[in-house]
Amino acid sequence: MLTELSNGQRSVGLGGWPDRDGIVTLDAAVMLDDARAGSVAGVRGVVHPVRLARWVMERTPHAMLVGEGAQRFAREQGMAVHEPPLDDEQRARWEAWKKEGRYAPVVNVENHDTISMIALDAAGTMAVASTTSGLAFKMHGRVGDSPVIGSGLYADRGVGGAVCTGLGEAVLRTVGAHAIVEMMRMGRSPQEACEALVHRMIERVPGSHDYQVGVLAMDHAGRVGAFAVQDGFTYAVADAAGNTMHRSAAALQLDGSIQRAMKVQQRP
Ligand code: GLY
Repeated sequence: MLTELSNGQRSVGLGGWPDRDGIVTLDAAVMLDDARAGSVAGVRGVVHPVRLARWVMERTPHAMLVGEGAQRFAREQGMAVHEPPLDDEQRARWEAWKKEGRYAPVVNVENHDTISMIALDAAGTMAVASTTSGLAFKMHGRVGDSPVIGSGLYADRGVGGAVCTGLGEAVLRTVGAHAIVEMMRMGRSPQEACEALVHRMIERVPGSHDYQVGVLAMDHAGRVGAFAVQDGFTYAVADAAGNTMHRSAAALQLDGSIQRAMKVQQRP
């Protein structure tokens, strides 16, 4: 699957940018608010890794399968597995990257195209999901936050859910989605919880001027929160009224200056 973005960049999936060995590997996860969860990491050659993650949840006693084992499970379950060779553009970008071999994902271009979703049905059941090919030119074997329950996504009945996109290492190091849900449990709104997590990340994970993380949260009343490290994070809301696009507020402007006025006071 190839998604071409309006800025000419590619989004995630088999047509996304490969790792530094020229291999596209995919991560995905799904979680329901009753704590059922499934995920796959480092899987190759499947078009819909998030469906495979759902099958891990529904058809195995496990919560996570990785690499060759995840691919074998896909085959056993009748999912088509086919690894297409890199197309001309993927190969050209990879060859160009190898000339310098410098790992420095470009903010808002190479590091926040993970597709992460929160869904709430009419009966009040919440589900969260993430799917990604991970960061462009990552080390082979690198796994980001997206398939890690609690980091890239989390949902808890009666509280709400949260999902993350962006530099997975920053999210893993702050256990982003679970932290947001726990802050909501303690009384913060989805917006306040998103802002608090991003400010905590900036304090704890150095180099925030050079990375992007965007976070979304929703409670069971349908209230939405969104915040990002850097300006430029957009997200969609779909409800009975239709689909709308929104630009999230952010802690840092693209020139790196902190929007201090937006900082949420940390509670003791
Ligand atoms: N958030 C996607 C990744 O870091 O792989």
